[in-house]
Amino acid sequence: MATGVWLAGGRGSVAVTSIVGATAIKAGLADPTGCVTELEQLRSPALPALTDLVFGGHDPASTRLCKKAEALADAGVVPARLVAALTDELAAVEPEIRPVPAAATQLETAALIAEDIAAFRFRHGLERVVVVNVSSTEPAAAAHPAHADADALRQALGEPGTVLPASSLYAYAAFTSGCSYVDFTPSTGARLPALDSLAHRHAVPYAGHDGKTGETLVKSVLAPMFAMRHLRVRTWSGTNLLGGGDGANLADPGANAAKATSKQRVLGETLGYEPQGNTRIEYVDDIGDFKTAWDLITFSGFLGTSMRMEFTWHGCDSALAAPLVLDLARLTAAAHKSGRTGPLTELAFFFKDPLGAVLGPATSDPRSEAARTDEAGSAQDPARAERAPAGTVPHALAEQWALLASFVRGLADA
Ligand SMILES: NC(=O)c1ccc[n+]([C@@H]2O[C@H](COP(=O)([O-])OP(=O)(O)OC[C@H]3O[C@@H](n4cnc5c(N)ncnc54)[C@H](O)[C@@H]3O)[C@@H](O)[C@H]2O)c1
Repeated sequence: MATGVWLAGGRGSVAVTSIVGATAIKAGLADPTGCVTELEQLRSPALPALTDLVFGGHDPASTRLCKKAEALADAGVVPARLVAALTDELAAVEPEIRPVPAAATQLETAALIAEDIAAFRFRHGLERVVVVNVSSTEPAAAAHPAHADADALRQALGEPGTVLPASSLYAYAAFTSGCSYVDFTPSTGARLPALDSLAHRHAVPYAGHDGKTGETLVKSVLAPMFAMRHLRVRTWSGTNLLGGGDGANLADPGANAAKATSKQRVLGETLGYEPQGNTRIEYVDDIGDFKTAWDLITFSGFLGTSMRMEFTWHGCDSALAAPLVLDLARLTAAAHKSGRTGPLTELAFFFKDPLGAVLGPATSDPRSEAARTDEAGSAQDPARAERAPAGTVPHALAEQWALLASFVRGLADA
């Protein structure tokens, strides 16, 4: 099942690490560590194979893929020996990462984006294409009345001016050309009523938002622990230091605010209340793609005794993100094939700010009492997520995992 992965931001760190990784796995030079769809419990014949993925994309940058891959190798993100061994394969992908089209109206620009994707699909005989947004984070989009309705949106896009941010224009182009869409960034993407109805109209699924690869991943494991042990989290503050293109872009206050909001959401929704404190993101050029997060948590226990916890996370951002991009492309393509349309809320496992209504904290669900009083290993109730009303999403990682596993089983049965 040859499946296209069209990367908006195709010359960025996450995109190029994804391309290098998939190409290395295909050539038998690397194993798929980090790809959760290669785990025993999630492996499924319903998914396109990693070796079936074909890459293309858009990017305004002109850095050649092999140069970007070499820069990632110099920075210790990918092994230099792989980049050297994959020169021909990367050269073959090079012409498939196209400049971003521009036209007099956004409707015409969307048509040009769709044309590039259609030509890519035809050239490679692809069964379907998943558009994945891994481009620079945008500031929150300005509201526009046409965001509420698909027909009004089409009309407004035909006028000069900016109606949609770039991330949403990619979603528009994807949906209208019958492609699914994944937003790996905190940008607006498909999160507009007009785009949701367009996805349903064109019978395509979409997933998002904002890949969960570092501090928030740790939060989504630790916050349920405090909740399940009935410990009161009084404050939770985090500082994230990162460099690279993403870090430089997040130095912009608008993009920074969009990211910080999406990183803090897990706490309120897992604990059932908002502890004091917030998440800061700071650009440190010298650390490149390696991110450091320091978190301080203060909490109260029995009889109000004060305690604290601190953790430090040193992660390589693109190495953590790239395997998830490959997982998401495979899962979304399989969902599309099985006839799913609209938001794929079961993919919440991958995201900081997942699509879907919030499933309240496990401690407020009387049906999960048995699991809470069970042994420590089952302190979270994975089955709760499967019982929950369609479209609701938990924020605890174990519950998200259970939802994902049942989604994959469902794809195989479809
Ligand atoms: N790395 C992670 O762990 C992680 C986790 C969650 C989210 N993300 C998000 O993934 C995105 C990519 O991260 P990165 O580290 O690769 O950043 P990067 O800066 O290396 O790459 C972004 C790329 O997007 C391109 N771009 C900018 N505007 C564009 C447009 N209109 N159309 C197409 N391309 C455009 C840039 O030229 C650049 O090549 C960011 O939004 C980041 O917040 C990354």
